[in-house]
Amino acid sequence: MEELIKKVAEQIAAAKHIVALTGAGISVESGIPPFRGKGGLWEKFDPMEVAHINSFMSNPEKVWRLLISSMKDLLVSAKPNAAHIGLARLEELGLLKTVITQNIDGLHQMAGSRDVVEFHGSFAWLRCLDCGNRVKTVDIELSQMPPRCECGGIYRPECVFFGESIPMQDLDRSQVAASTCDLMLVVGTSAVVQPAAFMPVIARQSGATIIEINPEPTPLTGTTSTLLVQGKAGKVMRKIIAEVERILADKRQ
Ligand code: APR
Repeated sequence: MEELIKKVAEQIAAAKHIVALTGAGISVESGIPPFRGKGGLWEKFDPMEVAHINSFMSNPEKVWRLLISSMKDLLVSAKPNAAHIGLARLEELGLLKTVITQNIDGLHQMAGSRDVVEFHGSFAWLRCLDCGNRVKTVDIELSQMPPRCECGGIYRPECVFFGESIPMQDLDRSQVAASTCDLMLVVGTSAVVQPAAFMPVIARQSGATIIEINPEPTPLTGTTSTLLVQGKAGKVMRKIIAEVERILADKRQ
């Protein structure tokens, strides 16, 4: 593993324009369960039942009660881990330009990343279905389900439900980022949900090197991605960043 960490760190230190694509796995070490695989949310709930826009519109109370209120408790207390912090450090070093995240937990921004595309929106804000008024999720009381705006309208989280399209500006920014990077780090995603999972394919087609960090292989492994560093994102990223800092320090001497 040490050899692989060294090889990845050398590629990162030599890159001109890194983009990261992250998924739920990067936040597992921050206490937020993934959707798929061991302990995944979709083992407990059927995503089409609780995370599809039609389910929300037909029974907002059920979706709020089943999915959203439990996520609110998780997200209020979650903190960035070494993987989020490592990507923010790569941006600070001028090596990484953009993080495209499928996560709605805001942990990349909390870790200091500045250029973040929230591909599936964000859970930080709610929007009234009737008047469009926006409030911060942390500021609303969940005593009343579903929470309502002063106008009486129901609040919905500003995340992208299944059955909804990715906001055009986010899709566009992600496609541009994927087609202009020379290295894409794909961290903690099962790479099964489109169009997010197509970003590494766009990057590869544009000549970029694709490196995955994940305890498990994914459909990208061995086809689109050049390397898979098999391990937990926080643990692996900590080692990679330490090696990158060492390489850069040597270069400066
Ligand atoms: N470090 C890195 N990767 C991990 C870790 C960890 N500690 N723990 C689990 N993983 C990996 C799993 O092996 C899996 O490949 O993270 C991935 C989690 O996959 P999913 O739960 O499917 O999450 P994600 O890929 O982000 O899902 C995409 O599906 O349900 C929708 O909107 C939801 O954005 C989500 C999208």
